[in-house]
Amino acid sequence: MDAHKLGAAARAAVAEVETLDELDEARVRYLGRKSELKQALREVRDPETGRTLNELREEIERLVAEREDELRRAELDRRLTEEIVDVTLPGEAVPRGHLHLITQIRREVEDVFVGLGYQVVDGDEVEDTWHLFDALNMPPGHVTRSPLHTLFLNGDIVLRTETSPSQIRVMEAQEPPVYIVSLGRVYRRDTADATHVPIFHQVEGLAVDRGITLADLKGTLLHLMRALFGEDRRVRFGTDFFPFTEPSLQAAVSCFICEGAGCSTCKHTGWIEMGGSGLVDPNVLTNVGYDPEQVSGFAFGLGLERIALLRHGLPDLRQLWQNDLRFLRQF
Ligand code: DAH
Repeated sequence: MDAHKLGAAARAAVAEVETLDELDEARVRYLGRKSELKQALREVRDPETGRTLNELREEIERLVAEREDELRRAELDRRLTEEIVDVTLPGEAVPRGHLHLITQIRREVEDVFVGLGYQVVDGDEVEDTWHLFDALNMPPGHVTRSPLHTLFLNGDIVLRTETSPSQIRVMEAQEPPVYIVSLGRVYRRDTADATHVPIFHQVEGLAVDRGITLADLKGTLLHLMRALFGEDRRVRFGTDFFPFTEPSLQAAVSCFICEGAGCSTCKHTGWIEMGGSGLVDPNVLTNVGYDPEQVSGFAFGLGLERIALLRHGLPDLRQLWQNDLRFLRQF
């Protein structure tokens, strides 16, 4: 073996490598157990050659260590320039969500009634025809029992078209007195347009106790309307019909846009229709096992989207459910 040649080749090889991997290969080739140098060292016979070879091994080891140092430094320099992070840049803002307008209104209405001592109860969106129709005093031929109007899932299982069946569920489960509101989603086979969406929300209210009268209904709705639309509101009733109330009334609130002077929101009447209400029909009380001679009640049902539409002057209800943040962020 020619120590001079080997030394020259090793020096050149170590100087040439550009990466730590290449350096490792060179280290194995010139210093590894099977390298020419290590084999020569094992076979060495005279001290002179031994010293020469050991000096050569030490030199190559030193060169490899130095080259490794250089390469690591270069790698660090590269990363420090390439992976530079400007810690003075403003951070990326994580956008914060907020409650949907309908959820806000829902909670507002719940708060009003909790303040009056009412209980907030959940209803079921999937109902059966007893709770949605029969118990609510709707005769077999009633229009909402038609599959053109109502989404039937299976036989007598339906998606509720109104929150009123929660009245029945509450009364079946407990004795009077009852003071509850139940808010949630309802479903109708309607085509969506600016003022209708097939899935919308209602608040149902029910009070059953000894001696409940229309005056209690009116006072309660007046309180709600003032909470929603301002302290100056008044409430008036018009006649209406619902199978589950007798008498049935349409509740209207004095226009909060024009204060009664007449505008397009109130169609120049000074009054805005808010929803249905009335005194609970004695048949309904009997259906749930209450005695209409002992107790009476009032009930009402209002659309939450309608409250949103009136209060914010929404041009098109469909916008509430299209997930366009430019629209939703406003509320
Ligand atoms: N359920 C009725 C509807 O969806 C609204 C309604 C009217 C609810 C009268 C009531 C009520 O509780 O007494 O149009």
